[in-house]
Amino acid sequence: MDKNMDKKYMILVNKNNPMKDEDSYKKIEVDSKYAEDRTLEEETYAAFLKLKDFVASKGYTIDVESGYRSSSYQQKVWDEVLRDKGLEHTKKYVAVPGYSEHQTGLAVDFVLYENGKFLVDQQFENHPVCDLVKDNAYKFGFIVRYPKGKEDITGYNHEPWHLRYIKDTDIAKYIKDNNLCLEEYINNTSM
Ligand code: DAL
Ligand code: ZN
Repeated sequence: MDKNMDKKYMILVNKNNPMKDEDSYKKIEVDSKYAEDRTLEEETYAAFLKLKDFVASKGYTIDVESGYRSSSYQQKVWDEVLRDKGLEHTKKYVAVPGYSEHQTGLAVDFVLYENGKFLVDQQFENHPVCDLVKDNAYKFGFIVRYPKGKEDITGYNHEPWHLRYIKDTDIAKYIKDNNLCLEEYINNTSM
């Protein structure tokens, strides 16, 4: 294991650890066919483009659905989901403002484009593209941040669309191969 891992990209933001230092991550504009005004941390976006090309080579089209979110934008997401789906659902899928990994710029929700339309979130959670991404995201420095079976640890339901850039492909592979979530890796590894 690489002990000199890039801590900047190993940051833990979750229900117990708020995002504190947004300005240390340089965000850049994203070119997404799904939506305008999306931004991501610059390395995260470069890595996502490579993942997107890889996925395209297997016959699927993905793009950025959601990237960096400010605290006030996260509030908007929370309010919309709360209005549409109720509190129980919202707590399982949406972070309260200040505690969203999207505030790092290192998290990407991808969208699937198929048969002339975009599919988001649960609309494609059982699609083969989710397995393809789960199995290969590590090659580009990503992990699936909220894996199935880790809901009690991450605090969120399985979100196959939510990727987190951690940069180090060896660590990303280790996390995938050992069926870990980021909390388990960070808490059990002396960083
Ligand atoms: N969907 C993730 C948990 C967020 O809202 O940050
Ligand atoms: Zn997300």
